[in-house]
Amino acid sequence: MPQKKTTTKKVSKKPLETGVAKKKKEGNFAHPRGMRDITNDTFYHYQGFFEKASEIAVYYGFRPIETPILEREEVFTSGVGEHTDIVEKEMYSIKTKGGDALVMRPEGTAPVMRAYLEHGMHTQPQPVMLYYYGPFFRHDRPQGGRYRQFYQFGIEVLGTSHNIADAMTIGLMHRMLLESGLKHLSVLINSIGCKSCRPGYVRDLTTYYRRHIQKLGLIDRERLKTNPLRILDSKDEATREINAEAPEAVAHLCEACKEHFSGVLEYLDAMQIPYHIDHTLVRGLDYYTRTVFEIVTDGAPVNAQPEAVAEVKEAGKNEEGGTTEENPVAKAEEKVEEKVVAPRLALAGGGRYDDLAKRFNSKRDVPAVGATIGVDRVIESSEFSPHSPRIIKKPKVYFIQLGAEAKLKSLEVIEMLRKAHIPIAHALSKDKLSVQLATAEKLSIPFVIIIGQKESVDGTVIVRDMGSRSQETVPTSKFADYLKKKMRE
Ligand code: HAM
Repeated sequence: MPQKKTTTKKVSKKPLETGVAKKKKEGNFAHPRGMRDITNDTFYHYQGFFEKASEIAVYYGFRPIETPILEREEVFTSGVGEHTDIVEKEMYSIKTKGGDALVMRPEGTAPVMRAYLEHGMHTQPQPVMLYYYGPFFRHDRPQGGRYRQFYQFGIEVLGTSHNIADAMTIGLMHRMLLESGLKHLSVLINSIGCKSCRPGYVRDLTTYYRRHIQKLGLIDRERLKTNPLRILDSKDEATREINAEAPEAVAHLCEACKEHFSGVLEYLDAMQIPYHIDHTLVRGLDYYTRTVFEIVTDGAPVNAQPEAVAEVKEAGKNEEGGTTEENPVAKAEEKVEEKVVAPRLALAGGGRYDDLAKRFNSKRDVPAVGATIGVDRVIESSEFSPHSPRIIKKPKVYFIQLGAEAKLKSLEVIEMLRKAHIPIAHALSKDKLSVQLATAEKLSIPFVIIIGQKESVDGTVIVRDMGSRSQETVPTSKFADYLKKKMRE
């Protein structure tokens, strides 16, 4: 009888130190897909970006807001819209033991509007300008630049319908990206009209797509029933060809929307922000009205249609008189050569959402506009130049203790250094001088302070200059000042 091969399963004695990758097969202790541990420099890149973006927002008059990570499901089903990718397939939904249906926030605009209404912020001077940042959650297919837990920095301007707010929002996003080193930026912009002119546009669009229904894929046929606008940003190659000839939103704008849009473009010109009118840009969230925009990098036709843009603006002016028979915006747009923009990962996106408050049963209108930067994409960009976070304290001193007495004193000494604003590194759990000194060398820390048995009894510390290798014994009560002086030399 052949001998049965016996296998002994190796059980690691140190599961946490053997690495998550190895454990993946045996247990399920790895981080969830599409989510990450953010450590070391990457952590500081995020922190530095949030600090810089917050600072810019504060200079422009924004104030911070933090909404909960969990919101009631209705905030997104009503706010973002039933027939959006986010609500149809990307929400992390939680049923609590108490029976509440909560969702891990997939975006920040609906929660901010919820907070504005809930706290009666209409009683404050308008517009209310808020900024926020943090993690957001979408159960999408993870790929480069797309995570299930990702980080956004957002601004919202609530309580104004003036187009200067749209322009300021775009300008601010653009500025934040520029200040982070991103150079080849292009603003893609469109206007999808308001509740009075959009239905006419959607009707025309639907008729157009019905004529081409044979060429539409399954998803787009479904969208024809639920949300025809979304077909415009279809990823299906065949649909994209059809989209090239699809009716354009700007050709269907009512007078007020036309004027609003041409004003936004004029402000962008005044700020010298290059943009491209993208007729297929509708954005994947249902709450938008009028202005929608995205900021992308590289390859986008930055100054593609200066004459057309001039005509759009001229058209807006004419419309005030209300005498133009043809649609001048559409006429101007005919001159734009690039009609279909290849899909690329947007660094930021946003737009106006004048009807969102009504979706939350608000009796009052809250016209608003806002935008969000995808921080992960900024940080992963090859052009990204990090900002050093204010909190980073590069250790200037390595603290070494030798013996039980010195260990006892060590926490007191660390606190003295903190009060003197001297950041340190140490290895309190280690005992040997050689091990501790080697770490100090490795970290290239300029000064070392040493407390041994003798120093703890004498009430002194040894201060050693790692550069010159000279050292001095100083009373504990004076060593912080001594160190500061040495550091200034
Ligand atoms: P959004 O276009 O869904 O808009 O997201 C804004 C930005 O967040 C995107 O341009 C992208 O950079 C980043 N982003 C989105 N999903 C992911 C993901 N799965 N992984 C990594 N980055 C991602 C909004 O969220 C709206 N709330 C923007 C807004 C504010 N509209 C008005 N106010």
